[in-house]
Amino acid sequence: MTSAAASADLLELAHGIAVRAGAFALEARGHGVSVAATKSTPTDVVTAVDRDTEALIRSLILDARPHDGIVGEEDAAHIGTSGLDWIVDPIDGTVNFLYGIPSWAVSIGVAERGGADAASGPGGIEGTTLAGVVLNPVSGELSEASLGGGASSAGRRLAVNDGVPLHQALVATGFGYATDVRRRQAEVLLGVLPEVRDIRRIGSAALDLAALAAGRLDAYYERGLNAWDHAAGGLIAREAGAVVTGPRGGRENSELLVAAAPGLHAELVALLRRAGVDA
Ligand code: IPD
Repeated sequence: MTSAAASADLLELAHGIAVRAGAFALEARGHGVSVAATKSTPTDVVTAVDRDTEALIRSLILDARPHDGIVGEEDAAHIGTSGLDWIVDPIDGTVNFLYGIPSWAVSIGVAERGGADAASGPGGIEGTTLAGVVLNPVSGELSEASLGGGASSAGRRLAVNDGVPLHQALVATGFGYATDVRRRQAEVLLGVLPEVRDIRRIGSAALDLAALAAGRLDAYYERGLNAWDHAAGGLIAREAGAVVTGPRGGRENSELLVAAAPGLHAELVALLRRAGVDA
């Protein structure tokens, strides 16, 4: 098992790579951006900047750690031999990036394969996340965490809001790109919205989780996420005191991710199930 010191070293490396990748993507955004291709649906887009930023991140990782694996949103998985995998979303919030909405993030997590947390299902993380960085290059806000080392931003410790009852909770969520998935997400939302303070749809799962860790949201849930959307943000939220799970208390995966302070988390899971999240 990797030590706390090794996790801190991985975090330092991830931090440096995220800063370089964020600067690259921000500068490239300034030269204009357009859709390079579509993926799962016509609205699930990728820009040349997504691809180039991921290529930069991959090369920086492999320069420093040639034996590690890489799972990224925009390219095939690189199989490593060290037992560590980097889980990369070069631009989480691609639609915001495309439209010039200043809520997109570079998200970089590092996970150790094997151990008790080995299997988490599709869209989950194989193993235990050791370090994670979420950077919003527009605002410059960088949130980071290492396993057992706490979460911080600009040297300030992050902590989730505690003791918020469900009816007072500001809850973020997101929607997938496929029509049938969205219809089911909207049906669940009909059951959630009347029971909470309000809903936010920021457009980047990584930023949702970082905002939860910083206390700017009380809870976050989403169905249909991929590992690169939540690897770094999930660790940051956990290290800030959130409980992060799937629908039945297991690990988060593409079925569901629910994150909030402990009491609120239990209330929100119960509400989501009443609203039909299992259907
Ligand atoms: C998306 C964002 C969005 C979430 C979607 C994700 P992308 O990632 O995180 O907030 O609702 O489920 O796919 O496509 O912008 O990298």
